[in-house]
Amino acid sequence: MATVTETAVVPVPKVRQTKILIGGEWRDSVSGKTFDTVNPATEEVIASIAEGDKEDVDLAVAAARKTFDSGPWSTMDARDRGRLIMRLADLVESNAAELAALETLDNGKPINDSMAADIPLVIDCLRYYAGWADKIHGDTIPIRGNYFCYTRREPIGVCGQIIPWNFPALMAAWKWGPALATGCTVVMKPAEQTPLSCLRMGELALEAGIPEGVINIVPGYGPTAGASLVKHPGVDKIAFTGEHLTAQIIMKDAAMTLKRLTFELGGKSPNVIFADADIDAAVAGAEFGLFFNQGQCCCAGSRVFVQESIKDEFVEKLVSRAHERTLGNPFDTGTSQGPQIDQAQFDKILAYVEKGKAAGADCLTGGTRFGNKGFFVEPTVFNNVTDDMPIATDEIFGPVMSILSFKDTDEIIRRSNNTFYGLAAAVWTRDVAKAHLYAKSVRAGTVWVNCYDVFDAAAPFGGFKMSGMGRELGEAGLNNYTELKTVTMSLD
Ligand code: NAI
Ligand code: MG
Repeated sequence: MATVTETAVVPVPKVRQTKILIGGEWRDSVSGKTFDTVNPATEEVIASIAEGDKEDVDLAVAAARKTFDSGPWSTMDARDRGRLIMRLADLVESNAAELAALETLDNGKPINDSMAADIPLVIDCLRYYAGWADKIHGDTIPIRGNYFCYTRREPIGVCGQIIPWNFPALMAAWKWGPALATGCTVVMKPAEQTPLSCLRMGELALEAGIPEGVINIVPGYGPTAGASLVKHPGVDKIAFTGEHLTAQIIMKDAAMTLKRLTFELGGKSPNVIFADADIDAAVAGAEFGLFFNQGQCCCAGSRVFVQESIKDEFVEKLVSRAHERTLGNPFDTGTSQGPQIDQAQFDKILAYVEKGKAAGADCLTGGTRFGNKGFFVEPTVFNNVTDDMPIATDEIFGPVMSILSFKDTDEIIRRSNNTFYGLAAAVWTRDVAKAHLYAKSVRAGTVWVNCYDVFDAAAPFGGFKMSGMGRELGEAGLNNYTELKTVTMSLD
């Protein structure tokens, strides 16, 4: 079974910023209230954070509105705006070790992951969008008659951005990148579980010279600070990442002001392994696709479909890899799996384990708490899962893998699509035609072939069906931050 690792090889970072950022100033909440952010590996309080509510959101939106309406951000030369975003990326890079450690402290993810994945992807995303700033333009259109017709892509305005706790710094970068490149201003509400890296990035944005009021940050809870942002008439767009049930509330709350909405939501992504695949690569991909980030990924490959003839071999290899995962202190560079984010997620995951057992699936390993402090869950593998079991239909958001078997291509396409989600899918095969047929037929926003969780700032990401609306990253992500204006001029 997984072993405890003792030594913290990376020091715990100092928390520098715990306040609300409005118009370039760090302030306490209007109410004076604070909330605690907790270290999920120890269950100890890390820091008290200013708790934003409606009054704070009102002030933040006013600052973002004033900055947007009066410039200079939205009206400055686009290349200069790009240069400032580039400078923010450089500052994130020079403070990468501190940001990675803050992320590990607040979220519990292994320091290796924060250092190798989260923070490098933040830097890459900011640089990618910095490069777009001076390349956003419209078309000239040959309409009927003696007219000159052209389009302009203008910033959408004040953007409310609500992000979750699974990739706190990266989700901030995904949302700031296109907003800043297009000349929008931002009011961000980080998740209540993980405000620290976002607040530190707010400091770096000011240090980079991004003008006051462009990025405002209001930490707080969803139904208070989050809902106030969604309802505010001064906000033009809401970009949200989180649960589809929350997105449904946001859609209703945004209806009165008809805000633009983009959603990046959950999934129950199929990871399909054909008998002709490179089985060791597929086993490694299935392990990474589900257990990475403690299973707390919107695109987690949580339905692992294995073709019947190789199932026994696959299961044996997969379970042995699950046993090799090392749980423990996330600051130890030898740790590959940290704790879940909080008590609620921990309880939800273990409840699903019980549902899996009750439904008759075979729990081959894990299914229990690891240790006696922190929200650690043993890597868990269920075999002989069927499509109707709760562990096959619901997003668990934890280290719980469901292995199912299938016979042929038609069947697996149908069963892959038998879900209201449609975020991601993967297929493992050496047959090119089969790979393309599957990629074409699966109703999902991202399809990985012989790989999993390959992300790039240039590649659009988002969901079909109830996994989302609109796309993030790439040029598609940029277009969700602009309004398209058509100008028609008479030449008579
Ligand atoms: P959530 O969707 O409630 O929270 C995400 C963000 O939305 C947080 O910043 C939260 O404060 C905010 N929020 C919550 N209620 C709101 C409201 N009424 N108005 C405006 N903002 C609001 O997700 P939660 O409760 O943290 O996790 C529940 C489940 O959601 C997880 O078990 C997982 O299945 C899923 N989830 C999916 C994520 C993804 O990346 N797609 C990320 C986080 C959670
Ligand atoms: Mg919630």
